Amino acid sequence: MSDNQAFLDHINEGYKTKGDFLTMGAAMHKGETITEAHVKIPLKTLNRHGLIAGATGTGKTKTLQVIAENLSEQGIPVVLMDIKGDLSGIAAASPGHAKIDERHEKIGIPFDPKAFPVEILSLSEQDGVRLRATVSEFGPVLLSRILDVTSTQAGIISVIFKYCDDNKLPLLDLKDLKKVLQFATKEGRETLEKDYGRISTASTGAILRKIVELEQQGADLFFGETSFDVQDLCRIDENGRGIINIIRLTDIQDKPKLFSTFMLSLLAEIYGTFPEQGDSGRPELVIFLDEAHLIFKEASNALMGQIESIVKLIRSKGVGLYFVTQNPTDVPDGVLSQLGLKIQHALRAFTAKDRKAIKLTAENYPISEFYDTKEVLTSLGIGEALVSALDEKGRPTPLAATMLRAPMSRMDILSDNELKAVLKKSELIPKYNEEIDRESAYELLNKKIEKAEAEEAKEKAKKEREKLNKSSSSSRKSSRKSSTTEKAIIKVLTSATFIRGALGVLNKLLK
Ligand SMILES: Nc1ncnc2c1ncn2[C@@H]1O[C@H](COP(=O)(O)OP(=O)(O)O)[C@@H](O)[C@H]1O
Ligand SMILES: [Mg+2]
Repeated sequence: MSDNQAFLDHINEGYKTKGDFLTMGAAMHKGETITEAHVKIPLKTLNRHGLIAGATGTGKTKTLQVIAENLSEQGIPVVLMDIKGDLSGIAAASPGHAKIDERHEKIGIPFDPKAFPVEILSLSEQDGVRLRATVSEFGPVLLSRILDVTSTQAGIISVIFKYCDDNKLPLLDLKDLKKVLQFATKEGRETLEKDYGRISTASTGAILRKIVELEQQGADLFFGETSFDVQDLCRIDENGRGIINIIRLTDIQDKPKLFSTFMLSLLAEIYGTFPEQGDSGRPELVIFLDEAHLIFKEASNALMGQIESIVKLIRSKGVGLYFVTQNPTDVPDGVLSQLGLKIQHALRAFTAKDRKAIKLTAENYPISEFYDTKEVLTSLGIGEALVSALDEKGRPTPLAATMLRAPMSRMDILSDNELKAVLKKSELIPKYNEEIDRESAYELLNKKIEKAEAEEAKEKAKKEREKLNKSSSSSRKSSRKSSTTEKAIIKVLTSATFIRGALGVLNKLLK
């Protein structure tokens, strides 16, 4: 048996699947693509999360695109965090290329260019379905994690939420939250202290400063109504294909806090609302995070802990999370250890640090008699990657240096006009993009304060009147007399005869 035949058998045996699967490409051996040595990922294990890593320009984003469109084709909805703005092309068919044909010939899969159903969403004022959540929905626990406050301050945030709940004050946006925090140490101090305990101005001041910091990253755009229903991410089009939701995040790169706030809220909402999944054999939703280091950048320990536990829990809801990043070390160990699918594109060995990273990465892959993993890691070409997945029984599949298939959709972005056409077709934009600012805590508290102030003013006026009443009655009489005289004069002045008379005088004077 030839070496290549042994390799083909090794791959076919290791990647055998009974249920539905995705084909990533064909395995390579000694630099040669072994046609039909297909590297297949069972749909059943896609909720076990994954990682796509590799140096810039090695093909990570295209790998993401390939997986996303193949999922869509199998009726599985997808969410893509489009940080660099290079994913909109999924909505158009690939124009094809001789090199793509050559690639597919080697792999042994026909190339079939097509467009996919896409929904464009946005966190900010960019065009697309607006993604928002109310402060109430976000909840005191997540909010405290995001704001990275002390436990005392977190306690105050919980009290504030409770107070608003008890008093039917909706917390919709950050304006509401700030108002209640101010109210708690000013006009509402006594009431709150009586029912919920003392709240110090120093603590509310510290929380307010953290909120302002979050606002400076544009979080005021995110908090508010209409809040997004995560079920709308799970839509299937009329042809049974999963909708690919592209969340445009190009303007969020320098706002890691806003990004992690949004990610955490999205994951928590999905976890909270999706039903527990039995063994359905396929994921409900698959989420890709391109440039994933951004959510971990600047994340506090508390936030990191929260992300780790959500990653673990969300699996049971049939949701797969895929982190796309340059270096696996960008992803925290607690998350890395939970990943089922690993796709490692080429790494470059420029510095001693690079070489160390390559060694570490290689050690994290299954040992293979067919590869020197370290060597393969630096010699992979563009659109090629080391793949290690889980088979249907949850066991790691053999390591496969894979010639990846090309995206069926366009690798380049949509033109402005094409993008407009996609936005125009959206069913969700009319549902979510209307600006509403209904009466919430901010307005209700303002009313309450105004009412209290008006009552106070009334009270003050009453007291003043009483004071006046007590003073000399003679002056009162005289003032009453004078007022009668005034009235009489006014009466005279407005009487028709007087006006005519006065005009008559005027006329004479003007002559
Ligand atoms: N699977 C693939 N099939 C065909 N071409 C690919 C593939 N992957 C990458 N390429 C080529 O490499 C370029 C860079 O890929 P990209 O995914 O943007 O890299 P990265 O995200 O790692 O920076 C693409 O524009 C494309 O020309
Ligand atoms: Mg990329």
